Amino acid sequence: MNDIQKRIEELRSLINKANYEYYVLDNSTLSDQEFDKFLRELENLEMEYPEFDSPTSPTKKVGGEVIERFKKVRHKLPMLSLPDVFDAIEIEDFNNRILKENVDPTYVCEYKIDGLSVSLHYEKGELIFAATRGDGITGEDITHNVKTIKSVPLKLNQPIDIEVRGEIYMPKSVLLEINAKREKDRLPLLQNVRNAAAGSVRQLDSKIASERKLSTWIYHLPNPEDYGINTHEEALDFMYKLGFKVNKEANRVVHGMEEIEKYIKETSEKRRNLPYEIDGIVIKVNSLSSQKKLGFTSKYPKWAIAYKFPAEEVLTTLRDIVFTVGRTGRITPNAVLDPVIVMGSTVKRATLHNEDYVVSKDLKIGDIVAIRKAGDVIPEVVERKIERRSGKEKDFVMITTCPICGSLLEKKKDQVDHYCVNLFCPARKVEGLIHFCSRKAMNIDGLGIEIMEDLFNLGFVKNISDIYYLHEHRKDLIELEGYGNKSVDNLLMAIEDSKSNSLERLLFGLGISGIGDKTALLLVKIFKNIDKLMEASCEDFENIRDIGPTLAQNLYSFFQMKENVNLIEKLKELGLNMKYLGDEERHHDLISGKRFVLTGTLSFMDREKLSLILENYGGMTSSSISKKTDVVIVGENPGSKFDKAKELNIEIWNEEKIKSIVNSLQ
Ligand code: IVH
Repeated sequence: MNDIQKRIEELRSLINKANYEYYVLDNSTLSDQEFDKFLRELENLEMEYPEFDSPTSPTKKVGGEVIERFKKVRHKLPMLSLPDVFDAIEIEDFNNRILKENVDPTYVCEYKIDGLSVSLHYEKGELIFAATRGDGITGEDITHNVKTIKSVPLKLNQPIDIEVRGEIYMPKSVLLEINAKREKDRLPLLQNVRNAAAGSVRQLDSKIASERKLSTWIYHLPNPEDYGINTHEEALDFMYKLGFKVNKEANRVVHGMEEIEKYIKETSEKRRNLPYEIDGIVIKVNSLSSQKKLGFTSKYPKWAIAYKFPAEEVLTTLRDIVFTVGRTGRITPNAVLDPVIVMGSTVKRATLHNEDYVVSKDLKIGDIVAIRKAGDVIPEVVERKIERRSGKEKDFVMITTCPICGSLLEKKKDQVDHYCVNLFCPARKVEGLIHFCSRKAMNIDGLGIEIMEDLFNLGFVKNISDIYYLHEHRKDLIELEGYGNKSVDNLLMAIEDSKSNSLERLLFGLGISGIGDKTALLLVKIFKNIDKLMEASCEDFENIRDIGPTLAQNLYSFFQMKENVNLIEKLKELGLNMKYLGDEERHHDLISGKRFVLTGTLSFMDREKLSLILENYGGMTSSSISKKTDVVIVGENPGSKFDKAKELNIEIWNEEKIKSIVNSLQ
């Protein structure tokens, strides 16, 4: 080895050590300046002597690699998820099950990290690829992004072949930082740490992931027997010694319910002060031979469960109640709150739905209120803290005129909502435009509330068809504060791409009163193209199951109105697809035309996947049971829906039945 090569090796090992100390042990011995100096020296040497460059050099951690598309990766062993439990009784059930099986009932308790799972593969100690979980069987190759995560070693302490699994997460502080910047740049805020982390690793350009300061916790060794390991605790220790970031401080070996409950209690108290988000704890049988004996279902290991924390409640002040006007003219009161972080995301507003809701909660402006948010659920105001009232709070007063156009609001008898009935109210227009671009409609990324308000106020977009002329304003858009070359081009591309959407998206996007995304799909499956829909009579619509006289009238009137016909003709001219592009041929006697509700856990398939299959065969799925429900599909541990189905005498299919039907599908 010549001197240059020696120096390169020396620098790599210095930098790797510093990275490890900083990002894994959280304890650095090198100053930032020294680190930068070594890194620059190494970069220069690798540039000057490319023959000594290496894909596992720490210089590869800075990002910059861009891929064209995500490759699919089939997992050697499926990446399973864990069954969720929500209280001590369910944990006890699990413990009793383990005790009955005559295995070693020692457990390891761990934090359940709120991120996305990743599988890391090393050959001869070098990272060769990293994959997402995907559907558990097949994931996506995200190596280029994972390489930029500082706590993921590119090279291990031993030259072994190994796969490890863990969670990629975004620290809470990073989400706050990113969102503060995005707010300034008027970009839509990232929802929560999990989506933010997942969005970061699903980027083709690794620069983005590298800027997002992601980190990892490694918690699973899929093939422990290859390394002569007997317990999960040993596996964690083994991975730690190889250089992985393992949560030594958090993981704990426990015996029996009492120690499990103590761990939960302590963790719940610490949780708020952790720099990363956790949404529960994981309880795993420690002995690997016991794990083996217990085995798996098709979806879960039988030797572990995830206890999920109850939804978090946080107190804040209700500063004001402001009113917004929806695209149908509906008026919604909204709580303006002192910003608080609930479950990893900042909450500043919460919907108060309508006047009755505010009155029933007895909210006054200035009240201290409890805010709750569970997972991805929209934040809600749970209650006002009456004991915290000072007497200075102001009563809530419902408005009588539209906050935007000033017209008198209307409230129909027996309805809870107030409406602005002025068809030309600008707020209704903007909301309609936002709805057209929304995810379930034309799915044009980048045309959210603030941007649309700007485009409307600037006169660039006054109605739907103007969206498709935005390219003529490219220069103006780039000059607007907060928009760059790249974001404008992305936006214009998204607009162009939306032209080829299947018709149900356009139909839903048109915002016909009462027509949701599911009804839009039902309609286009029947009518196939826009011309047939426009020619249909009110009776034609009414003859469709699930479409009552009001909806039928709404549809018919919409297609009779001259301005709507003109809009559709214009969109046609602009090249928008006007046909249903979905799977038209598929039909199954037991599925097509029926309305399904799914409840409980199905072991042979995700509920979501099954819903898609049912819909592909002309079935409809909904989340709640009504008299219109034809079939309730019941898995393990069904909820109250099962009881309701029996009560309403609705046909019930068990897992075996639906499985045999799905297996018989072509
Ligand atoms: S163990 C076969 N341990 O939670 C067992 N999972 O619902 C594999 N997760 O998909 C998972 N923290 O993404 C395990 N300490 C932890 C975890 C954890 C977070 C995630 C993981 C998994 C999901 C299970």
